[in-house]
Amino acid sequence: MNMTFLFYLIKTTRSVSCVLNVSMKMCTASQWVRVRKQIESKRKKAILGGGEHRIAVQHKKGKLTARERIELLCDPGSFVEYDAFVEHTCTDFGMHQTKFPGDSVITGHGMISGRLAYIFSQDFTVFGGSLSSVHAKKICKVLDRAVSVGAPVIGLNDSGGARIQEGVDSLAGYADVFQRNVLASGAIPQISVVMGPCAGGAVYSPALTDFTFMVADTSYLFITGPDVVKSVTGEVVTQEELGGAWMHSTVSGVAHGAFKNDVVALLQLRRLLNYLPLSSRDPAPIRKCWDRWNRLAPSLDTIVPADTMEPYDMNEVIRCLVDERDFFEISPLHASSIIVGFARMDGRTVGIVGNQPKVAAGCLDINASIKGARFVRFCDAFSIPIVTLVDVPGFLPGSAQECGGIIRHGAKLLYAYAEATVPKITVITRKAYGGAYILSSKPLRGDVNYAWPTAEVAVMGAEGAVSVLFKGQREEESQYRVDYIEKFGNPFPVAVRGLVDDIIEPRTTRMRICQDLDVLANKVLTNPPKKHGNIPL
Ligand code: HXC
Repeated sequence: MNMTFLFYLIKTTRSVSCVLNVSMKMCTASQWVRVRKQIESKRKKAILGGGEHRIAVQHKKGKLTARERIELLCDPGSFVEYDAFVEHTCTDFGMHQTKFPGDSVITGHGMISGRLAYIFSQDFTVFGGSLSSVHAKKICKVLDRAVSVGAPVIGLNDSGGARIQEGVDSLAGYADVFQRNVLASGAIPQISVVMGPCAGGAVYSPALTDFTFMVADTSYLFITGPDVVKSVTGEVVTQEELGGAWMHSTVSGVAHGAFKNDVVALLQLRRLLNYLPLSSRDPAPIRKCWDRWNRLAPSLDTIVPADTMEPYDMNEVIRCLVDERDFFEISPLHASSIIVGFARMDGRTVGIVGNQPKVAAGCLDINASIKGARFVRFCDAFSIPIVTLVDVPGFLPGSAQECGGIIRHGAKLLYAYAEATVPKITVITRKAYGGAYILSSKPLRGDVNYAWPTAEVAVMGAEGAVSVLFKGQREEESQYRVDYIEKFGNPFPVAVRGLVDDIIEPRTTRMRICQDLDVLANKVLTNPPKKHGNIPL
């Protein structure tokens, strides 16, 4: 090849590429304008979800849209959305003609009271919020990120269940979500709010999370709806009876609370999150407290009635003890003979467990045992100290409870307390009878145990004891009853054995607990290494 030809070749190639470059640049610029327009229009479409008509229908039902819920939940302007352009991949049943950017769930992260949280909010206006495979992938992404970063996940559920058109792809999507819920359990707090339908296998994602709340009248949770129930069993039942917020928050205990509308639910959710750590790697936040740690509570000196059979309100005891009387009760309407919830003492989050003498004399039944055990395990998983207020005549006797497996369920509560390594502070306010005494006792690694002067600790109450020991012997019976009460109807038997650290004046209880929490803040206690224990489920 001669030099002149080579020169010519380079020149022409350059000019061609130059022309090409210019035209490509022009093309790129016009393409950009087009792409930007596309981005804008898709974003607008994503924000509108299933469209104005469906949004109006959603509002008409008294429900907020998925985006409005996120806006209320997060600090203003803090929500960062992911995957707003994701579209479903289904081509069957003409689905390729109907696509919505973002599909039927909005995901991302935001700040709640200045702290990070991951959120997914199902959009009922898009295919009824049903779960497609991309919908599942979006949820899985936030769950994965939340676990790696160490921040809670909040799921706002409003969905018709598996996307029917996608068949097994949708079912597999549920499995992906469930797997992540389980792996995230104990690592990050997971909270579900059911704000619309949640049926079929879909119910298991909320059920796998730590707390599930519902909205009255607009939400329901069931494995199968009323029509299927009728066709299979013949039972005629309404949606509300089968899986409404009232039923689940009172009878089944599946929901840990019911709120009257979306707004209240989301505001209460913000309140709950303020008590919780971001993950098991972090401590719970300590808030500045205006309530003096050494405040005395004189009303507690007289709160326990002289008659040991007379009830009083343990909720009032709790409110007198905690900061600013602020107590977030979990499952207030279910298994109410036990009270569980979060509060602060000198600014520190504590989990409170208290027997409620006003309900079934504070007896522990099956539901109360399960409720207490699950709460204690949550506190232990997230390093939240447990304060237990004991006034319990024992586990509820009777064939209904025995047939229902009170032994197995009561063992859950025992297991949870025995397994817990967080600081455990216990106050016996009155009765601590039988197995129920053992729960948060010294031998079960209780750190600090107090008795009020009104405490009675015994194997069982006087009536039961006399009926066993002096069956049919009337004279001995009444004398023995007096002796029994004399012997066990006071705090000395436990105090002289060192099974309580002190007998304290009720008015000083707050002060003592706040001091103890301070002392126990760096407590280290570990269980033997193992894959996992085998709680009697
Ligand atoms: C696809 C669905 C859908 C679904 C609702 N839609 N559910 N699309 N898959 N699962 C669509 C509707 O076609 C409708 O679309 C829009 O969402 C709103 O639904 P409506 O029926 O008009 O609303 P409403 O009257 O409020 O009734 C809501 C509903 C009902 C009660 C949830 O839609 C319903 O019964 N859906 C089916 C529920 C179900 O059986 N899901 C499968 C459960 S089994 P347009 O275009 O008209 O707005 C399951 C298995 C999971 O989930 C297993 C995991 C292990």
